[in-house]
Amino acid sequence: MKLRVREHDYGAGDEVRHEHEAGWKSRRAERARDPVPLSHQVAGHKYGIHKVGILQNFDGTVLKQLQPPPRGPCEMHFYKQVFAQDCKDPHLLALQQHLPKYHGTWSTPDKPNELYLKLEDVAGKFVRPCIMDVKIGRKSYDPFASQEKREEQIRKYPLMEEIGFLILGMRVYHIASGAYISHEQFYGRSLTKETLKTGLATFFHNGEELRKDVISIIINKIHDILHWFEGQKQLHFYASSLLFVYEGSLHTANTKNKIEALKGQRYRQAESENNNAQLTNSKLKSSCKQANCISIHNAIHHVKKVNGFGSHSLHHQGKGITTDMFEEKNTVSESSKGGKEENVEVRMIDFAHVFPSDSSDDGYIYGLRSLLFFLEQILQD
Ligand SMILES: Nc1ncnc2c1ncn2[C@@H]1O[C@H](COP(=O)(O)OP(=O)(O)OP(=O)(O)O)[C@@H](O)[C@H]1O
Ligand SMILES: [Mg+2]
Repeated sequence: MKLRVREHDYGAGDEVRHEHEAGWKSRRAERARDPVPLSHQVAGHKYGIHKVGILQNFDGTVLKQLQPPPRGPCEMHFYKQVFAQDCKDPHLLALQQHLPKYHGTWSTPDKPNELYLKLEDVAGKFVRPCIMDVKIGRKSYDPFASQEKREEQIRKYPLMEEIGFLILGMRVYHIASGAYISHEQFYGRSLTKETLKTGLATFFHNGEELRKDVISIIINKIHDILHWFEGQKQLHFYASSLLFVYEGSLHTANTKNKIEALKGQRYRQAESENNNAQLTNSKLKSSCKQANCISIHNAIHHVKKVNGFGSHSLHHQGKGITTDMFEEKNTVSESSKGGKEENVEVRMIDFAHVFPSDSSDDGYIYGLRSLLFFLEQILQD
């Protein structure tokens, strides 16, 4: 095709060339708008690791591929019900604010039957999003689960019944190093009643200070969700999560343009890094050598020192790594005390196991209260 275009470089061929160029440019533009694996996913099915996963769309939404039945259709039905235009149910209407906005379903022309849920990206508005996924409830399996499934879920975290929640994953932006510290599923599963408070506090520590301002806002937001649960008797949620997001950058207040620029950069960055550019310590070290960024070595050392348990990895932030370090370092002394509501999000996600009922969801309520208890403890320390 390219050759043919060259053949028509002059004269009458110009038209053909322009057509080809236009076609090529529009295909390139289309490709540039193709969804990419979600760069800031902290838990669940991930593209590259599993067959299905979550994608990041150029328009600021995320695309969650429908899981095989009954889970996928169950989740889709739930979103449709809550966001139905003619919905009059006051409980469902009140629930909308606690969920990512639902924008219908999405699919590609070549695979029209492969459906995705198009959802608001809860982390989309943040410059340096710190994200944690916490499964809520005393049971990770629904009433229809097989004995095998029940046993498998209990084995994963036998303390679930007693604690009522489980940290599935997190990533925290550390200001001094300009890197994200990540913890995956094994981190949460390794936490006991004795270590849970410290394990949870990790999410609020930016390497410099504990973000108590964020904890206070999160406590208020959990209370709102608890209030919703205490007022409804129509739905039970199993293996559903709360997604916590807060702004890890301390100087967002007067740099709005920069934030907008960074938001676009994040999509492009994800696009180029493509698949969760999650580096092992050794890979990170070698890439840091090239970038000559000694602070990352310090960050690794710091993570090892602070977290004696669980698995951890560091997320490389691509090209921005050195710049970030200096940007944030200059502001480390800035106050983070005046945390703002808009810099924190708490949303319910993952509704593959939601069932109608005629009683209150005591398992979920137990989990919320337990989480509140631990958060209050962290605040009081
Ligand atoms: N609306 C969203 N905005 C931002 N990030 C999201 C959103 N939904 C999901 N994520 C990210 O993707 C991860 C997994 O999401 P989710 O729990 O919905 O999928 P899953 O566990 O793979 O699904 P399932 O349990 O249905 O198989 C979350 O931990 C979060 O990092
Ligand atoms: Mg999940």
